[in-house]
Amino acid sequence: MASQREADLSKFVEPDRVRKEVYTDAAIFEREMERIHETVWIYCGHESQVPKAGDYCQVQIGRQPMIMVRGKDKKVNLLYNRCPHRDNMIVGDRKGNTGDQFRCSYHAWTFHHDGKLKNIPMMESGYAGTRLNKDSPELCVKKAARVESYRGFVFASLAASGPSLKDFLGESIVAFDDMCDRAPEGEVEVVPNCFRVIQHSNWKFFMENQIDALHPSVTHQSTGRAAHEVEKILAKKAKAGEALSYHMLSAFATVTIDKWDNFQTINYPHGHCILTGYMGLRPQDPDTLAYDKVMIKAYGKKRFEEIVGVNIHHVLVYPGLSVQSPLQQLRAVRPLGVDRTLTEIWHFRLKGAPEPIYRRSLAYYNLVNSPATLINADDLENFWKCHTGLSSDGGDWVSFARHHGHDIEKDGHVESAPNQGTSEAPMRNQMKAWAEFMR
Ligand code: FES
Ligand SMILES: [Fe+2]
Repeated sequence: MASQREADLSKFVEPDRVRKEVYTDAAIFEREMERIHETVWIYCGHESQVPKAGDYCQVQIGRQPMIMVRGKDKKVNLLYNRCPHRDNMIVGDRKGNTGDQFRCSYHAWTFHHDGKLKNIPMMESGYAGTRLNKDSPELCVKKAARVESYRGFVFASLAASGPSLKDFLGESIVAFDDMCDRAPEGEVEVVPNCFRVIQHSNWKFFMENQIDALHPSVTHQSTGRAAHEVEKILAKKAKAGEALSYHMLSAFATVTIDKWDNFQTINYPHGHCILTGYMGLRPQDPDTLAYDKVMIKAYGKKRFEEIVGVNIHHVLVYPGLSVQSPLQQLRAVRPLGVDRTLTEIWHFRLKGAPEPIYRRSLAYYNLVNSPATLINADDLENFWKCHTGLSSDGGDWVSFARHHGHDIEKDGHVESAPNQGTSEAPMRNQMKAWAEFMR
């Protein structure tokens, strides 16, 4: 019976289209949580979110509420947020410092930062002759099977076996190198707190949209046009800094569909993807020139040119992370249900970079990625309309046929062909990975 269901599922994904149930079926959602989100490496947070021993924050991995906590030994642990006694959450606050132990608020069992039991009140009298004694492993808070960190970015896998973090990330690891290398000190630190947005749609819509180069000049056209008008006025008044902020928005109107075709998508195993493309990120204003000076001092001219010359617009780390490394932006996707998805929107500070460079990242964060901007609202409306559209009997398939058959396969990855940057190759690649994981 089970193998019958597996066989059925394989019919849901074809190279250039997928059945709509992939986005709407609650049983498929449960299976993708188990086989994908609770198996592969999932981004938990940045080490700078928990700098001191006892610092913790909550994070969702698949369906599991988890705690990321820094131990006295400086190690970052990922624990299931569940007391082994009667299932009370170990912490209720989103973040904080727990001191030198966790103490359950229900019956005062205490635990070390790595989840090991520390004490149970009156353990000996209460548990003498029972199946439990102080060494029973089931009295510890369960830990994530594997935790690894790369340049400060912490990932966990709830599966004991599988590829290492580096092997899983493959070429998409460039997202973290590119972000950190742009800091004169080679490191970034998180800016607390993130924006949190809940979209009323399946999680896959968000991931597909991140490298959908076809949509910006359509979906965000009205926002881009209005911004372009303001940008022109500011430029006339020689307010270069402010004009630059508006330029981030006006690009949605001035970079038309045909120009997006000049970009290129490079698609990798496990569903990861890089969108290459130069977005005018090397302006010659005084702030940029001051930053360049600091960078050249830190790295030397040759290495500096290599660092700022990395041609990346966006990196997608499947199944739940979208990174815009040149602007230090990161969005993490936390599926809550088949039709509900939380996204966390973070940005980072380049350590050692002049303040105006941080201000630029903050401007992009607020103007393009925050819930306050129309750009975000434009996308959210599409996600909701897509998900609602799936309830219609007007058709059974979601199409990813744009430029299908033209992709170029080489050295284990798939590139969209020249002048086909608006190809739906990234969606095809994600669904290919999805089908492999679900098998
Ligand atoms: S539920 Fe935690 S100590 Fe009882
Ligand atoms: Fe968008």
